[in-house]
Amino acid sequence: MNQDMIIQQTRQWVQSKLENESSGHDWHHIQRVTTQAVEISKVEGGNRFIITLAALLHDLIDDKVVESEEAGIEEVTNWLVDQGVPKNEQDTILSIITTISFKGGNNAPVTSLEAQIVQDADRLDAIGAIGIARTFMYAGNKGHLMHVPKAHYRESMTVEEYRQSPSSAIGHFYEKLLKLKGFMNTNEGKRRAEERHQYMKQFLSQFYDEWGNEAPF
Ligand code: ADP
Ligand code: NI
Repeated sequence: MNQDMIIQQTRQWVQSKLENESSGHDWHHIQRVTTQAVEISKVEGGNRFIITLAALLHDLIDDKVVESEEAGIEEVTNWLVDQGVPKNEQDTILSIITTISFKGGNNAPVTSLEAQIVQDADRLDAIGAIGIARTFMYAGNKGHLMHVPKAHYRESMTVEEYRQSPSSAIGHFYEKLLKLKGFMNTNEGKRRAEERHQYMKQFLSQFYDEWGNEAPF
């Protein structure tokens, strides 16, 4: 099979698997990440075939989507074998998606340009307007509060107080969203993140204005 056909088949396969997914890793997330990754690679380079497949497959080994990471890896490997993807390219793709889904923190080392691009694209989907929407979806789904005034990022707050403060959607901006810009790998990723970052800051500023209390920092 040629590369375009493999991508086409993989697109359909992933779509059918994630169509009813509601954990924040639905098919539309995959589509957005893949589009961003391809656009970034037009500026930054990298192997387009590898980038596209890794972006399409990047959430299929997440234990929120499959029963275990091992099961996910096996399924993705079988899929790539069936499509006739050469062994060295299978390995590259698997190594990209396992590094990206690594839960050991935001600083998991990502070495290849292809991995850097897919990781940037995935992070872009967690910020900006889409990132804001996903955050409120997640918080609503978990029964978290929208906002707990002054619960987060008080200079004087002890770690213990912080741990005990209730989870909120606005709190997640400080735990993660506002930090993501600093974790981007590529220049084009950074440029895109900067726009989305400014948009989130504007959103927060408007949010606090409308809330009517002092901002929490
Ligand atoms: P990923 O594995 O892509 O980082 P997660 O499953 O951690 O995704 O999160 C999916 C979406 O939900 C992301 O947009 C993320 O920012 C958001 N999210 C994750 N944790 C929280 C939280 N505690 N509160 C609000 N939103 C969250
Ligand atoms: Ni993702």
